[in-house]
Amino acid sequence: MTRHLIFTSCLLLFTTAQPSIFAVDFEKEIKPLLKQYCYECHSEERKKEKAGYVFDNVKRLAKDIGSGRVIEPGRPGSSHFYEVIANPNLDEAMPPDGPMPDAAIAIIRKWVAEGAMIDPNAPKPVFKKELPPIMKWTNTEGKSIKAGFERIEGDSVVLRMVNGPYVKFALSKLSAESQQLARECAAP
Ligand code: HEC
Repeated sequence: MTRHLIFTSCLLLFTTAQPSIFAVDFEKEIKPLLKQYCYECHSEERKKEKAGYVFDNVKRLAKDIGSGRVIEPGRPGSSHFYEVIANPNLDEAMPPDGPMPDAAIAIIRKWVAEGAMIDPNAPKPVFKKELPPIMKWTNTEGKSIKAGFERIEGDSVVLRMVNGPYVKFALSKLSAESQQLARECAAP
């Protein structure tokens, strides 16, 4: 019964969470957010470089973008920069006085997922593609939900619901295709 409810509510939420197909423009969409929410403590303009991060000098910002850096192109889920803005439960959640609006977080996620491009004319960076943030999962009763893959834990799969929470499902309760999908997602 509970599972039933979870499946239904996730479907509803998914329909409002479809990302736009247009590429994010750093100058127009990301910079104003960084200015509004981050410059106060992370900019040359304000002479504040908390934790060594400065976001108003694009040359310096560019140095934080790359594999193993705080912004991993194509991989918001592995980007500490994204983690601190998206997870308000972290000690180092940013901004410290409370999260940005969901829409702002979503656009930053999309920017990172698309490759964290600063210059739209620069060649598109080559990056290891992340798993699609939202995939379709079906249970043995034929009910479907849309959720992100998180990990396999023993004989269960942990999925990330579109509204945030992580929910664990027994693999045996998923359709054969979804079990297969979970294994493919878990493969390195
Ligand atoms: C009011 C000041 C303030 C604002 C605004 C602020 N930060 Fe920070 N930030 C800090 C401080 C202080 C630290 C270092 C201490 C800590 O980790 O809490 C930090 C650390 C960080 C770190 C490193 C985290 C770590 O694990 O050490 C990142 C990344 C970061 N900020 C990103 C941002 C982003 C992105 C924004 C805007 C959305 C932002 N910050 C807004 C004060 C701020």
